[in-house]
Amino acid sequence: MADFQWDCPAPVGVARLDAEHRQLHHLIMSLIRRLERHPGAAGAEARFIEIFERMVEHFKTEEDYLEARGYPDLAPHRFEHELLLDWFRDQLVLRNGPGARPLVLLVTEIAEIIRRHHQTIDRTYAAWLKGSAPGAVSAPDPAQAGR
Ligand SMILES: [Fe+2]
Ligand SMILES: [Fe+2]
Repeated sequence: MADFQWDCPAPVGVARLDAEHRQLHHLIMSLIRRLERHPGAAGAEARFIEIFERMVEHFKTEEDYLEARGYPDLAPHRFEHELLLDWFRDQLVLRNGPGARPLVLLVTEIAEIIRRHHQTIDRTYAAWLKGSAPGAVSAPDPAQAGR
């Protein structure tokens, strides 16, 4: 199998969110690399569940931050997160069934889905935060409040 490539996502300009994006990217790519070499690698299923849990946490952090900033397109962004997690939950259930797909294919698919998410709607809020999106308003950064 050809080695799957995925560059670290471009920063959105919020330290915590960028750190979480990098962590998720690292977790996913490490698992893909292991599975490419050893398809039945020990602990791989547990890693897959960990990626899901990290995504749940990251989406919550991202939504809370955008809500605090008054981001106007939060509802569709949140909806996209929910769809993604629903897809992931379905895959977790199917892992225990007889027709479970090879884990490397599934992790590569989640990488593609998250890459698309980063490159589209995460970029949209990053642009809004920078005040460069049409109709952007300047909202105070709660992380800077009180300083
Ligand atoms: Fe997002
Ligand atoms: Fe994100």
